[in-house]
Amino acid sequence: MKKLQNCQVLHVALCAIVLLLLMPSAFAKKSVGGNGKGCVDCHQKTTPGIVGQWKLSRHSGVGVSCLDCHGSTKERPDAFMHEGTLIATIVTPKDCATCHEQESTEFQNSHHADAGKILGSLDNVLAEVVEGHVTYDENGNKLKGSAVAISGCLQCHGSEIKVLGPGKLDPETWPNTGMGRLNPDGSKGSCSACHLRHDFSIAQARMPENCGRCHMGPDHPQIEIYNESKHGIAFAANRTRFAKGMEKQDWIPGKHYEQGPTCASCHMGATKTLKRTHDVGKRISWTLRPPVSEKIDEAAKKFGHKDIVPWEKRRDDMKDVCQSCHSKGWVSNWYIQYDNMVNLYNDKFGKPATELYKMLNAKSLITPDTTFDEKIDFTYYFLWHHEGRRARHGAAMMGPDYTQWHGMYEVAHRFYDEFIPELRHLISKGKDEGGDKKSAAKEVEAKMNEILNSDMHRWYLGKSSEKEKAARKKASEDFKKRYAQ
Ligand code: HEC
Ligand code: HEC
Ligand code: HEC
Ligand code: HEC
Ligand code: HEC
Ligand code: HEC
Ligand code: HEC
Ligand code: HEC
Repeated sequence: MKKLQNCQVLHVALCAIVLLLLMPSAFAKKSVGGNGKGCVDCHQKTTPGIVGQWKLSRHSGVGVSCLDCHGSTKERPDAFMHEGTLIATIVTPKDCATCHEQESTEFQNSHHADAGKILGSLDNVLAEVVEGHVTYDENGNKLKGSAVAISGCLQCHGSEIKVLGPGKLDPETWPNTGMGRLNPDGSKGSCSACHLRHDFSIAQARMPENCGRCHMGPDHPQIEIYNESKHGIAFAANRTRFAKGMEKQDWIPGKHYEQGPTCASCHMGATKTLKRTHDVGKRISWTLRPPVSEKIDEAAKKFGHKDIVPWEKRRDDMKDVCQSCHSKGWVSNWYIQYDNMVNLYNDKFGKPATELYKMLNAKSLITPDTTFDEKIDFTYYFLWHHEGRRARHGAAMMGPDYTQWHGMYEVAHRFYDEFIPELRHLISKGKDEGGDKKSAAKEVEAKMNEILNSDMHRWYLGKSSEKEKAARKKASEDFKKRYAQ
């Protein structure tokens, strides 16, 4: 009897050991600590910079070791034996999720995590065809990617990482810490797009420059806009004073700091009532990216997302951030100014230019399958992708120069001085060609004339109403009187 009991105990113990061995790596990784001493000792010599960064981190303080993040399982395609231990160089959101599940889930559900899915986009035609060159085998598989996509687009958006062999990652796809990276373990994204290794400092993640690595330049100059806004100015003026507070877990506007919100404050950070979020789209109501802006939940539906948060709720959350520092009336008035600007861009330029450009393609007055082989392709692209976005982004984040001179001025110039004259040229070319082209050209011409004769554009044809002309003349005389002396 006793023998049997002993045997059962032994059996149970053996089972437990077997079970433990079979447990997914998640379990092993939860045990903060791990056995990373060997890694640290040797890497202190081979890569002292990395060990130095890790020693500064909160992770090292709480015993999160090299192995906790780099430890791997056989199943992972990128795992390899390294000094007697199975590891992977790539550390994916799934790895971080063993300890930071909430941040990872929010991130996976965000538009950020989808940033790698740009292959079919119009912009990608630029990188792969117009600027660069891709080679294919006879089955249509890519032999060689475009160098400009690899060093450009994909560094911000994320590559699809390919494993060539044990410990060997394809240099066409790695190094890369783009936002929506497609990882060998099937997960999307890279946490180190924002969290620089290996100190993983929360203060660094909150700095505006962190977002500015990608959110910059002629087509989405958020960092430039922020820097010229009063919010950016206030942050710059108080940066040194804020530095210590920014290292703490809680950094709440109106409580721990009173001015100079950063990108992270408005789009991610906690307030007295809101929790922090790793879904950066949670507080924006419009998408300002497409040729014509729409409410962000409409756009999300087209992406096939489920459980979509309505735009009104998102706007309320952003207002909650603003109202940590501002009064309600200030904020709601500001939203009216912002909405009016988006609607003006949409109605006056975005919609008409898009409608006319689509007609040109549908009616084959330009080559419909090839973009960027004709002048008007570039003209239209500049109008919405660069200038039209800048105007909208400037209004969204209080950068008036981007709304006006880098924005609507450029849009108007592009529309009246390039788009319309090029359109007229294509119309007359179509008419000359005769047949189907002639009737197509006439249809486009009728649409163009309808648009130009509408309220917003008729000034261009010299057809402003008499009332309007008189009002403008009076304003001009008043101006001269004021500034003449
Ligand atoms: C006996 C020394 C030694 C030990 C122990 C060691 N490493 Fe390394 N490790 C190296 C050397 C050398 C390299 C290559 C460095 C180079 O290429 O400059 C390397 C490279 C790496 C790389 C990068 C591989 C790549 O894709 O470029 C990672 C990640 C890594 N080690 C993690 C670890 C982890 C985690 C441990 C502990 C399980 C560990 N190392 C233990 C010496 C060591
Ligand atoms: C909190 C998780 C975490 C810990 C702890 C950690 N790493 Fe890393 N490590 C990363 C991430 C993230 C990357 C970037 C890879 C990626 O983008 O997937 C990385 C990259 C690396 C690389 C390759 C990149 C390069 O710059 O050469 C090496 C080598 C490396 N780690 C070694 C170590 C060593 C040694 C330790 C312990 C002292 C360690 N890591 C601890 C997350 C971690
Ligand atoms: C083995 C568990 C574990 C893993 C794996 C892990 N972390 Fe952590 N991390 C912690 C703990 C514990 C803390 C400290 C407590 C806290 O802030 O939640 C921490 C803190 C942090 C902080 C806050 C640092 C600060 O300055 O306050 C960041 C950012 C962070 N981790 C990011 C990551 C990222 C990104 C990854 C994956 C590359 C990762 N962690 C992987 C356990 C882990
Ligand atoms: C400097 C980093 C950076 C580079 C380089 C870059 N992008 Fe982007 N891209 C972004 C950011 C940031 C956004 C989002 C802008 C916004 O929301 O206003 C974006 C937006 C986009 C969008 C719109 C996505 C949507 O959801 O509507 C597409 C498509 C795109 N990029 C493709 C490309 C392609 C293709 C290239 C290379 C030809 C490229 N990008 C180069 C950072 C970059
Ligand atoms: C868009 C940039 C960005 C990305 C991508 C990102 N983070 Fe963060 N993360 C931040 C910012 C900013 C904060 C600080 C927010 C605040 O002010 O509270 C932060 C905070 C954190 C914290 C600190 C929590 C605490 O209580 O100390 C953890 C942990 C963390 N992130 C993990 C992750 C993980 C895991 C991933 C990948 C799944 C990730 N982050 C991806 C920007 C980012
Ligand atoms: C590594 C590049 C990169 C960094 C760093 C980055 N972003 Fe982005 N961000 C993108 C790209 C790319 C997109 C467009 C997503 C897509 O194409 O799917 C985007 C989109 C967004 C959006 C629109 C989201 C939506 O749902 O429409 C917001 C808001 C945003 N980012 C804020 C931030 C903030 C705040 C930070 C810093 C804390 C940051 N980003 C850091 C690349 C980046
Ligand atoms: C004062 C708060 C505030 C700050 C600071 C701020 N933003 Fe915004 N951001 C907004 C608001 C408000 C919108 C428009 C929201 C809406 O449409 O309802 C917006 C819109 C955006 C969008 C959406 C653009 C699109 O194409 O759809 C991106 C991306 C973005 N911000 C990134 C950033 C980055 C990066 C920084 C820092 C360089 C930053 N923001 C700083 C409040 C802020
Ligand atoms: C952490 C506090 C803080 C937050 C959060 C904040 N602001 Fe501000 N905001 C300020 C300060 C400080 C100023 C500068 C006041 C001055 O003119 O002296 C300012 C200025 C402004 C201005 C005037 C811009 C100008 O050029 O004169 C507007 C409009 C504005 N904020 C709107 C918003 C909106 C909308 C939000 C939310 C999306 C927001 N703010 C979030 C502190 C904040």
